[in-house]
Amino acid sequence: MNIPPDAGNGLYGRRALLRSGLAGGAALLTTSAFADTKLRRPEWMQTPGGPMSAAGAPSRFEAHVQRTSIRSQPGTDGSGVSSTPLQYLDGVITPSRLHFERHHSGIPDINPAQHKLYVHGLVDRPLAFDTEALARYPMVSRIQFLECSGNSSALIAPQAADLDCAAIHGLLAVSEWGGVPLSILLEEAGVSPEGKWVVADGADAAVMSRSVPLAKIMDDAIVALYQNGERLRPGNGYPMRLFLPGWEGNASVKWLRSIKVTEQPAMSKEETSKYSDLQTDGSAKLFTFPMGVKSVITSPSPGLQLRGPGLYQVSGLAWSGAGRIKTVEVSADGGQSWAAAQLDDHVLPLCATRFRVAWRYNGAPATIMSRATDESGAVQPTRAAVMRGRAAGSFYHMNPIQTWRISVEGQARNVYV
Ligand code: CO
Repeated sequence: MNIPPDAGNGLYGRRALLRSGLAGGAALLTTSAFADTKLRRPEWMQTPGGPMSAAGAPSRFEAHVQRTSIRSQPGTDGSGVSSTPLQYLDGVITPSRLHFERHHSGIPDINPAQHKLYVHGLVDRPLAFDTEALARYPMVSRIQFLECSGNSSALIAPQAADLDCAAIHGLLAVSEWGGVPLSILLEEAGVSPEGKWVVADGADAAVMSRSVPLAKIMDDAIVALYQNGERLRPGNGYPMRLFLPGWEGNASVKWLRSIKVTEQPAMSKEETSKYSDLQTDGSAKLFTFPMGVKSVITSPSPGLQLRGPGLYQVSGLAWSGAGRIKTVEVSADGGQSWAAAQLDDHVLPLCATRFRVAWRYNGAPATIMSRATDESGAVQPTRAAVMRGRAAGSFYHMNPIQTWRISVEGQARNVYV
């Protein structure tokens, strides 16, 4: 392969990938070996295979691909988080069974026949909707990301922790969300002129509650009923949840029960002591909703072994709460030089985008990182820039450039540069 790299330490970006296939991993097959292979059928070709089934499951050889980093408050098993195993996935859609979870008092077992959404407060006509009633309204479906405000908070630690991609960045998932625009329901209820916020309550035991500006609700909020083509899973809000594209996940209240139109935000615990951003001057930023521009290399990453020098695909996800991803750059020399990555075809607004480069790994230690730019022109910041002005322990909205250090053994590790 004679194509010159696009950036230092053997990195081939978009330009090189467009010019030529960079071949690599196939094992050489001799004519006689091929003849042997054809004659000797493996055991799964000797008898008919398994039966049809009512619902599918992954191959038993993929059993390791599960939610990870599951942790809950002491004495509980449903008040905490579980992470999406990003390093084992490709494309952008997160299988529903692997979508991360963040619950504040477990997963309620809601009978949809007994569940209603109440729209009330500063409205002309308070209304109640069950799932059947909602299904008669015009629906929309969009492929969009959901990211917990506390995602990547491990990166506030003064020393880089020995954690994998899921443990650091796995409170991120992408689904096709289908549901009814909340604006339609509020227009039917008739919002009073003094209505400026809504307070959304969940039907969990914690009554998770967040205040959302009415403008966002009228812009693109939906009451989601479907996720990746099926009804929401219980862990993601069955039978209905609020979904606020591009905004911190906590505000997309699951198991949605009540939308109350108000003049002011409720100033609930979840928007004052939690989900606020304490600054070094003692002030706190409140209602910091949009998630910042961000990217992470998912492969290679900790736990995925590089097997000797050679050509590898470097791939990851980029997303932004401000809209579409415009470019992703990748470096294999610790940020000294960058190559523009190839983006997969569907670059959607408020969705993750898959990026790829090819890398000729020479077997020496290397430092790889990615940097995203969104359509607003915002560039993913360095860790030092993200930490500036942030009070100790303030951990929401962490979107710094992630650096992986590849060892001489071909193993990736979380490092700071
Ligand atoms: Co926030």
